[in-house]
This record gives sequence, C-alpha cells and structure tokens, in this order.
Amino acid sequence: MVDQTLLIFKPEVLRRGFAGRLISRFEDRGIKIVQLKLTTIDAPTARIHYAEHQSKPFFAGLVEYITSGPVVVAVLECEGVIPLVRRMVGPTNPANAEAGSIRGDFAFSVAENVIHASDSPESAAREISLFFNG
Ligand code: RTP
Ligand code: MG
Repeated sequence: MVDQTLLIFKPEVLRRGFAGRLISRFEDRGIKIVQLKLTTIDAPTARIHYAEHQSKPFFAGLVEYITSGPVVVAVLECEGVIPLVRRMVGPTNPANAEAGSIRGDFAFSVAENVIHASDSPESAAREISLFFNG
C-alpha cells in the first residue's frame, strides 16, 4: 500500500482562514488527498490522539487548544509521504522553522503551531483509524 499520513489543520487555521492555502501546498507538491473532513475534536479523542504527551506539563493546554474550534482532518498519500510532509510542516517550534515551511510561514508559537502531521508509520496508522475508520 502507498504510504499515508494524517494531518490536522489546528483551530487557528479556520479562525484565520487559510485552510485552502494549506491544501494547495500539498496539491502543488503532487500529494494525493484521500480523506478530508471538517470536524470539532472532543476532549476524549484529543487525549487519545496526543496520549504520548499525557505526562507533559503542556498536555492540558494542548487538549484545550485542539478542541477549541473546528479543524480540518485529512489523510494524504504518496510514496514517502510521512517525512515529506514533516519537512513541509517544519519543526515544532515556529521560531526554528525556515521560511517556506508551513510553520515558518504561518505559525507564531509552539502552542499554536498551525498543523499536526504524523511522525511515523505506526502513528499514522493509529491516527487514521482514530479519525476515519474507528
Ligand atoms: P504535532 O504532533 O502537533 O504534529 O507536533 P510535533 O510532532 O511537531 O510536536 P510534538 O512533540 O508531537 O508535540 C505536540 C504538540 O504539543 C505542543 N507542544 N507544546 N509548550 C511546549 O513546550 C510544547 N511542546 C510541544 C505543540 O503544539 C506540539 O505541536
Ligand atoms: Mg507529534
């Protein structure tokens, strides 16, 4: 099967209104969109999605933030899509993100860093089944 990754456009994307511009970046790169939905994530789902961070000091704020408004959730597909999309997204802290990356161009803070992308094939499989096949 061709590689897949899960993306979440975090709440500020719809608040500030640039979902279309993010989708265009992936389409321009030739990456196929195979699932796409607008939804609001509830707290139990957010806690499962970010379970690896549950002991971190920022966990409560992370759950509160990702549930604070509508998000776009998508599955993208192409060969090598997980590292490719992580490169397009840029590092977690936008202060370290190069111009030209999504976080480098659109994000202002670690807490509100615009976009989530799966970090491994195992995470992608888990996250896709959480949001689409569950
Ligand atoms: P994401 O999971 O959202 O794609 O982000 P990531 O892989 O680049 O970063 P990760 O380490 O998985 O952290 C998940 C999210 O937690 C928030 N965070 N806050 N205050 C902090 O020091 C801190 N560290 C991480 C960020 O919103 C990050 O995207
Ligand atoms: Mg992560």
